[in-house]
Amino acid sequence: MSHTAAPIGVLDSGIGGFSVVRQVQRLLPGEDLLYFGDGAHIPYGNHRAETIAALAGYMFRFMEAREVKALLVACNTISCVLDRREEGLSCPVFSAVQAGAAAAARLEAEKIGVISTVFTHESQIYPRKILALSPRKVVVLSCGCPDLARLVEHSLGDPAGMARVEENLRLELDHMVLEDRVDCCVLGCTHYPLVSDSIRRLYPGLPLIDPAEEMARSLKNYLDREGLSNPRRGSGTLTVYTTGDVAEYALRARQVGLERVAGVEFYPPMEVSKGRPVDARFPEDRRTEHESAAQQKRD
Ligand code: DGL
Repeated sequence: MSHTAAPIGVLDSGIGGFSVVRQVQRLLPGEDLLYFGDGAHIPYGNHRAETIAALAGYMFRFMEAREVKALLVACNTISCVLDRREEGLSCPVFSAVQAGAAAAARLEAEKIGVISTVFTHESQIYPRKILALSPRKVVVLSCGCPDLARLVEHSLGDPAGMARVEENLRLELDHMVLEDRVDCCVLGCTHYPLVSDSIRRLYPGLPLIDPAEEMARSLKNYLDREGLSNPRRGSGTLTVYTTGDVAEYALRARQVGLERVAGVEFYPPMEVSKGRPVDARFPEDRRTEHESAAQQKRD
């Protein structure tokens, strides 16, 4: 496959990365996209660092085997452990956190709020990066939400589920918005832009920063600069792989308005027991080992 025709990889613990796909499809309609959502292991935000790094490594290998020309880590939580995992990848990697922090640092805000998973919050990666990138003196307040990503993953289009999402949003955000009075809020988990209408309704006038827009722009700049944009006149496709429920992913893709979905397929998850990876081998490797063991038996 020529490099220009190669697909772009997008990955997340679940459907959150669909918020990034949405922006990429708008800005780069000619590109083919491969999506991996690790529905079997969501929420990543409540796992420990080694588990997140191992789960991410499994998805990176999936993308590497399919020779993607760029990889969008459409998961802020994985972005926190990227330095442990980027090694071995032959394509450039775009991080959700880097994009979100860069977008926030450019704002005229004095008090910036960030909502994210607990893991991302505890890493304090957003405050550190925003303070490092901002030319002005800013205050960054971060809040970790233990349940929000999981609620969003399974509630879109379901009135009772969305009521729980909104209740959870108020629980997590009221203090930051109404008492600390942040000037804006970074949606530091890719699931949250999928419910930005609810956030806007609850907190009218609060500017929201969705790292997806910045990620899509950085990707476009990179492809243009390197001469790697797909030259086709027609539209590209999106193929979704999930270790979760195929029917649910197909429904969510429609609900969030993704276009040109060529297929939604199941992919075997990495084995994890009691929060620790048990078998980090790739299904292809397992099959090969199984086949060579069977061959040896036959010989
Ligand atoms: N969507 C992911 C993020 O951006 C994480 C959700 C989760 O699995 O906890 O951090």
